[in-house]
Amino acid sequence: MTSNPTPPFVTRVPAANTPIVVAIDGPAASGKSSTAQWVAERLSFRHIDSGALYRAAAAAVLRSIRGSGDWSEDDVLRAARGITLTAARGAYVPILNGADLESDIRGSAVTHHVSRVAQMPRVRQWVNAMVREAAAGTSVVVDGRDIGTVVFPGAHLKVFLVADPWERARRRLTQRLGRSPTDPEIAEETERLVQRDSLDATQTVQAKDAVLIDTTYLTQEEQVERIVSLVKVLRPAL
Ligand code: DC
Repeated sequence: MTSNPTPPFVTRVPAANTPIVVAIDGPAASGKSSTAQWVAERLSFRHIDSGALYRAAAAAVLRSIRGSGDWSEDDVLRAARGITLTAARGAYVPILNGADLESDIRGSAVTHHVSRVAQMPRVRQWVNAMVREAAAGTSVVVDGRDIGTVVFPGAHLKVFLVADPWERARRRLTQRLGRSPTDPEIAEETERLVQRDSLDATQTVQAKDAVLIDTTYLTQEEQVERIVSLVKVLRPAL
């Protein structure tokens, strides 16, 4: 028996003064991005939202070739050449030829097309390379679907967030509408989310060594607190 055993959720103990990688994965509307952003703020780490890069690639190809969405992987990669990840407000934000893409990437056209873009293997390689480059040399909280399995299999802490689909739909609508949604509205959004889950199912994978957090009955503050306290076990000085 060692006197100081490693807690089971620690994938890899970070050496002193080296950057820490926290991976947060989970399905759509599980609160990954907002939780990751808040955790990053609390710890003064940078936040990287990998989904925003898939969305940026979809926005770029939609800008360059409008229409049906019948574009090839090469079209997407060509359009995505102008995208850079720029550090701003404690996060890395995708920029296309100098222009902020934030309003495009949250719009319905991008949301409609992004799952297909995210299925393209070379687009996935492109996103993974961008994320790894942005993370080099700095402590990060990275959120997505495959961060703990593919992008950073050696992340120091891996979290997989889940929540009941009805609750995910309710949260998403409350945020979007700025009011409490009705039950029929939630039911319709739940159906959309479940469809979305099946489109993204292949790449949404819980790493074997991830900590599973079911947020259905947690407030966002409680989720953030749990993750921050896990990171503090890795590095108590934080
Ligand atoms: O989390 P989000 O809704 O912003 O993700 C946008 C799309 O990108 C969605 O189809 C899932 C996909 N995605 C992915 O395949 N792998 C990631 N690491 C992040 C997102």
